[in-house]
Amino acid sequence: MLTFIGHAGFKYETEESIILMDPWMSREGAFDNAWYQFPPNHKLGDEMREIITKTSKDIFIYISHEHKDHFDIPYLKTLDQSKINYITPNFRRDHVVKELNKLKPKSVEVLEDSKKFSIKDIDLFLFIDDNELNRDSGLGLIDNKTQTTILNLNDCKIYYRIPEIINIMGKITIFSCQFSGAVFHPVCYDYPVKKYSEISKTKVEGKFGAVKRILEQINPRIYIPAAGPPVFLDQQLFHINFQDTNIFPSPLVFKDYLTKEVPKIKICVPVPGTNLISKGATIEVSHPVNNYEKLFSLDTLESYQASVQDIFDKRKESLISYAPKTIFSSLFEELKSKLVDFELTHEMDVILKFSLDEITGKAIYIDFKNLKVSVDSIDSKLVSSNLYEISASAGDVGRLLDGYQNWDDFMLSFRHKLHRSPDIYQVAINGFLIMEKEDINAFCSNLMKLENQKERINVEVGGTNYSVDKFCPHQGTDLSSGWVEDGRYLVCPKHRWMFDMENGGKALETDATINAVDLDGDGS
Ligand code: FES
Repeated sequence: MLTFIGHAGFKYETEESIILMDPWMSREGAFDNAWYQFPPNHKLGDEMREIITKTSKDIFIYISHEHKDHFDIPYLKTLDQSKINYITPNFRRDHVVKELNKLKPKSVEVLEDSKKFSIKDIDLFLFIDDNELNRDSGLGLIDNKTQTTILNLNDCKIYYRIPEIINIMGKITIFSCQFSGAVFHPVCYDYPVKKYSEISKTKVEGKFGAVKRILEQINPRIYIPAAGPPVFLDQQLFHINFQDTNIFPSPLVFKDYLTKEVPKIKICVPVPGTNLISKGATIEVSHPVNNYEKLFSLDTLESYQASVQDIFDKRKESLISYAPKTIFSSLFEELKSKLVDFELTHEMDVILKFSLDEITGKAIYIDFKNLKVSVDSIDSKLVSSNLYEISASAGDVGRLLDGYQNWDDFMLSFRHKLHRSPDIYQVAINGFLIMEKEDINAFCSNLMKLENQKERINVEVGGTNYSVDKFCPHQGTDLSSGWVEDGRYLVCPKHRWMFDMENGGKALETDATINAVDLDGDGS
């Protein structure tokens, strides 16, 4: 039986084993108390702890990647480690494995991509995406007794690997993947309301369309939209829940969309405690409450917020202990040390300006062209035409520097403000901000490898043949499995960057290109 345990979490239970996937159950939420499970699942977390203590079954816990809404160390610490076998991918960055070993569990199984791992009648496969900007995995589960096959991609966007996965696993009966956004663009950018809504709408439509296309490919018996969206209970972020349009659509809205677009596929919007049981050719679904849709009502958020107010009070107390001047100096040193290993062969004519809300007269400037960090006045002459700005409170930066969160967590906590001019995505700046200093070097080598890729493919777009770079300049996805939109754009299957063939293969809203060459010679 498969049980949804909240957010991206599932429990698969047989007569002999229990497999938990990404249990995010903490009352503290994730990303320094910024994200919260919705609908709440904390009670279920307590129940599962009890089950683990009492059961004689083998317990396996799969951790897909290190983001805190999947890798909930505070919750894992409360479980009886002597009974737990962890399963996690063999990523280049071994942070998850190290942290799991610190828990002193029964075992930590570190699996390679696509290799079978068997637990009695169950075969497991991890499908891994390991590059410096994205490190994630999905889980394939085959129950040989009930002939159930489950593919849980959570937020791992390896959509282009679906044919290969089906080849390994056979027909997928239950499929789950994320359908909502989960990044800081456009959430933290200072866009006017209209532009913010337009960007969000485009992102939501793109994501809905991408999941629809995978469903057509996989054609599962049932699809479970999961892995978000979260809600935001911190007063500073609470308004996000009520925006007319943002990148966090309700699963009920997505269900309506899919019901029209792929009517033959059964959609199960789950709530914590929803069970799915395979019965021959059908899958029976039972929810823990009648009117389960009501659990998604935003009217409940105020009482949810009140139920964890003690956590925010504690956090607030810690924030005031950070002296802005001291944090400013420590941040300067941190950024300087991040820049040491930041080596790219191409010139980056861009300035990153980092300021603290409490320090009004000056900011830290990172000049990527000359690889220099300096402090200057807020309206410094250092500023070039290509400027990326970030600001946050001394308290939030202090907690980052004190290790309550890492850089990636900090960026996902949505407590900073961003502005970029021109308004284009720049892979290198993004990488510089989200990487830990020990990962900057690997990030730069990967990026340079990508830029030096010489392999080309031919594609037909809008009736014209083009030669383009084979690998996406964002994260290296093979563009052979991309698709064409509006007769002029080649779309990368991973994050749906659109490359304009009528503009030399330049990606929309980024500084990247796939160097399209018109093979038909007339440029049309
Ligand atoms: S890999 Fe991200 S858009 Fe291509």
